[in-house]
Amino acid sequence: MSPLHVTRTLPEDATDAALRADVLRGLTATPKTLPPKWFYDARGSELFEKITELPEYYPTRAEREILATRAGEIAAAARARTLVELGSGSSEKTRYLIDAFPDLHTYVPVDVSESALTQAGKSLIEERPGLAVHALIADFTARLALPDTPGPRLLAFLGGTIGNLLPAERAGFLASVRGLLSPGDGLLLGTDLVKDERVLVRAYDDAAGVTAEFNKNVLAVVNRGLGADFDPDAFDHVASWDAENEWIEMRLRSLTQQTVKIPALGLAVDFAAGEELRTEVSAKFRREGVRTELSAAGLELTHWWTDGEGRFALSLSVAR
Ligand code: SAH
Ligand code: AVI
Repeated sequence: MSPLHVTRTLPEDATDAALRADVLRGLTATPKTLPPKWFYDARGSELFEKITELPEYYPTRAEREILATRAGEIAAAARARTLVELGSGSSEKTRYLIDAFPDLHTYVPVDVSESALTQAGKSLIEERPGLAVHALIADFTARLALPDTPGPRLLAFLGGTIGNLLPAERAGFLASVRGLLSPGDGLLLGTDLVKDERVLVRAYDDAAGVTAEFNKNVLAVVNRGLGADFDPDAFDHVASWDAENEWIEMRLRSLTQQTVKIPALGLAVDFAAGEELRTEVSAKFRREGVRTELSAAGLELTHWWTDGEGRFALSLSVAR
């Protein structure tokens, strides 16, 4: 069995500094916002896995269906020896890809969630003893340094996580992804598609309240990291469809007028009753929009696969 290599490109204190900077910027802005990457401590990663099993949350099942039926075609088109995956989480669906690539040498999962990465990495080296696994604890929106492994490379970004970036962030992100690839290397991108508003809102406001708990988990992360005194019960979970921007927005609505103290920042943050804090956007896509965004970054869309119900798409593009 090959050993599991884990590289931390986020020093512990950098995570702390990044949380401070994001919380200071986001909670002193109007309207208030927090970046979604802070959902994913160990509890947040566990809650996300529960979300993927909810009857209302279709994206994971839809993407798994595409991977299960198309992995052979993807492998034939991409012929990768190194598979890099950004925001890999549990790497559960990735196993379809790993098993389909006949010459795969190294898998490089990249995630901010150390617990998700190490759990996934340990299972993978046990299950696939011939595969080298080099896990990177890193923020994929920052400059990434990938290990020196054999090409061609396929970079996978699954789950629709690209939708959690704002449009301007997406453009910068895709340009930096292109910078990690050599001409002929590929990007396999999962994008959730625009559909009926009721289906979308239900996926982000499930009957069992798991998404509400996931949303409120960001408050627990700020409490633990910065000594804040957020009371999660003093906020309601809100999920709504923004038809103009074609994204779902998750917010936390303050139930009362309240002041939250954040000692590590020497900050007291006032919330009016009913005031909302945006915690995530989850953009939904159309084929032409995806093609245009990829092309602007120097990536040419070559394949487009959807599930049987046309809810979710996987696209393959090639670095020019
Ligand atoms: N790809 C998996 C997990 C999706 S959940 C799937 O399709 O099921 C999103 C994952 O991205 C989480 O594991 C989270 O920890 C990670 N993530 C979110 N923002 C990140 C960032 N800025 N840098 C690195 N990982 C990030
Ligand atoms: C990780 N990401 C693609 C999920 C999404 O659907 O936007 C995160 C999530 N938020 C609420 N439910 C799931």
